[in-house]
Amino acid sequence: MFSEIPPALKARMQYLEEVDRRDRTDGTPRNKRLRQITYDTGQLLAILAVNIPKGEIIEIGTSAGYSTLWLASAAKEQGRTVKTYEIDEEKVALARETFHFSELEPHIELVPGDFFLHAAALGPIALCFLDAEKSVYLRCFQEIASNMVSNGLIIADNAIDHYEGIKPMIDVALADDRFDCLTVPIGNGLFICRRK
Ligand SMILES: C[S@@+](CC[C@H](N)C(=O)[O-])C[C@H]1O[C@@H](n2cnc3c(N)ncnc32)[C@H](O)[C@@H]1O
Repeated sequence: MFSEIPPALKARMQYLEEVDRRDRTDGTPRNKRLRQITYDTGQLLAILAVNIPKGEIIEIGTSAGYSTLWLASAAKEQGRTVKTYEIDEEKVALARETFHFSELEPHIELVPGDFFLHAAALGPIALCFLDAEKSVYLRCFQEIASNMVSNGLIIADNAIDHYEGIKPMIDVALADDRFDCLTVPIGNGLFICRRK
């Protein structure tokens, strides 16, 4: 997955990395910024996602689709798809462009709109990457926890740089006997919960 990234995928990843880097320094308003995961976080997501049990792979918070590309690279290896939810219309348009140019469209289902409007329709989940507003992490965890299959993973970003913001979810997850949880100091910090 790392040594043979197809040229079209690599080009789109590099483009998004450049836009994200620029966003952070040129005064782009927060709601317009891509706010992507780091490259090494993407690599870890892909390594984890390629070894999961049967069930859906979902992502809450697509932005322009950078993290989705890492998840979809793993999904492609296994002949699976990633379902990703994005509420912001401009980000949805960017993500569509990303998936088209990276040639990973067959492995991605982009669901426009508020994740919470779709949560009730979810089946068994093998992996959920949670990267939306910090204020909704706890609600997301509560929506998906019972859908997680054995050995399935909930992976939440910003566990270090926004620790206080997502602490309510971290505390609930750590107290939930169904999960083994830890924080991995990679990128902005990943909080990973394995369903026992
Ligand atoms: C931090 S960004 C995601 C970055 C992306 N995962 C990446 O690394 O490339 C968070 C995104 O979550 C979206 N979002 C926030 N609340 C949402 C919700 N309830 N349903 C779907 N998307 C949501 C925002 O519009 C924003 O684009």
